[in-house]
Amino acid sequence: MSRSCLAVILAAGDSTRMKSSMSKVLHPIAGRPMISHVMAAVASTGVSDAALVVGRDAEGVAKAGAVDGISVQSFLQTERRGTGHAVLAAKDAIARGYDDILVAYGDVPLVTSQPFAAARKKLAEGADVVVIGFHTDKPAGYGRLLVEGGELIAIREEKDASDEERKITWCNSGLMAIDGRKALEFLEKISNNNAKGEYYLTDLVEIARAAGGRVVAVDAPETEVAGCNNRAELAVLEKLWQERRRHELMVSGVSMIAPETVFLSYDTQIGQDSLIEPNVVFGPGVTIESGVVIHAFSHIEGAHVHAGATVGPFARLRPGADLAPGSKVGNFCEVKNATIGEGAKVNHLTYIGDASVGAHSNIGAGTITCNYDGVNKHETRIGANAFVGSNSSLVAPVSIGDGAYVASGSVITEDVPAEALAFGRARQEVKPERAKVIRERALAFKAAKKQAK
Ligand code: UD1
Ligand code: CA
Repeated sequence: MSRSCLAVILAAGDSTRMKSSMSKVLHPIAGRPMISHVMAAVASTGVSDAALVVGRDAEGVAKAGAVDGISVQSFLQTERRGTGHAVLAAKDAIARGYDDILVAYGDVPLVTSQPFAAARKKLAEGADVVVIGFHTDKPAGYGRLLVEGGELIAIREEKDASDEERKITWCNSGLMAIDGRKALEFLEKISNNNAKGEYYLTDLVEIARAAGGRVVAVDAPETEVAGCNNRAELAVLEKLWQERRRHELMVSGVSMIAPETVFLSYDTQIGQDSLIEPNVVFGPGVTIESGVVIHAFSHIEGAHVHAGATVGPFARLRPGADLAPGSKVGNFCEVKNATIGEGAKVNHLTYIGDASVGAHSNIGAGTITCNYDGVNKHETRIGANAFVGSNSSLVAPVSIGDGAYVASGSVITEDVPAEALAFGRARQEVKPERAKVIRERALAFKAAKKQAK
């Protein structure tokens, strides 16, 4: 489609019902502000320019609204006088002249490019205004689509509707497409003569028809155009988003035993034939390659897990964790800013931070890289095929060479060369028969105490 298009995104609302110190559209879904989701959907619709109508938290909203591939300009709506008034805040952008104008809401974050594409197609076919509607069994609060002889003749807001009209279940999502050459002429005819005293964008339906224009409605799934007014609805949107993304991943070849317990981030990537066990949480910035197993109750953020690696159960991967193919990070281990080499094993109760572990090395249970001196972070380098005995503390900066051995229970403060064996603990002493002496002394002490009473 070579038609030019401007998207106008309304995000100036007061968000009173969110009861929040920040703008509603900055509240996250899957770890990313709602407005960023909307902008990503808009950007994938073939739009070149966007006008973001902001009010509260204008700077933060503008920042979260920046998106690759399109130029976004912010317009401040200083007074909140209705959706029609809000669109006109972007008058200067609209006046530049576009074939299509799309209207999106910052608080309708699950929208995809599909309803926008459908609406633009209708414009291309000659419609002047296209309303994106949805069917719902809970129409309360929404504008109702009034149809006569198969044509959309008006949108009636809840407060202005008759009892009969309130029974209608076909509703206005708020999203709309307008012929760019007529948009300003129509928008400037909107008045505030209604129950709320606001400038209703929805009046465009009747305005366009009165001018002899063609108005049509297209349908979108209710779950895709659901809005967010309070935190309970925010939780519902989060749930819908998670369900949608889990489904996408599963049909692309990822296994999940209990998908409803897996929480994904907006950018979580998981490769084919990977298995995600129950109760796994992904923070932002995670790439899981193919054939990986993430065992139950693991928490992963900012990590790259390469093919065939195994994580958990109960593992925590923090930003900068990079697990090479076939490596293993087991239960109650934490890895941060560290690479775990090919086939290396960090299996139990271990912290590896600011470190590199070479290929096929084995890190024993309870090993800790002491990376922090209270002020600075230091690095631990462990070579390939090394063996670190259980319960060792590696005090960084320190390095352990290829093939070296660290005796268990060691506190390692100096570098260990390749193929060396390092002990960092007191040598064991064995005293024959001394156990008997100690036991008899203890029993005698107990007897004396009893007699004294
Ligand atoms: C609007 C529609 C209604 C539709 C519903 C869908 C109108 C008159 N009504 O009603 O038909 O069913 O959305 O959710 O359009 N906004 C501004 N500045 C303003 C007013 C609103 O930026 O001055 C933004 C809000 O932040 C929000 C969006 O526009 O993102 C919709 O505004 P809202 O007040 O929620 O409209 P509704 O009454 O829900
Ligand atoms: Ca609303």
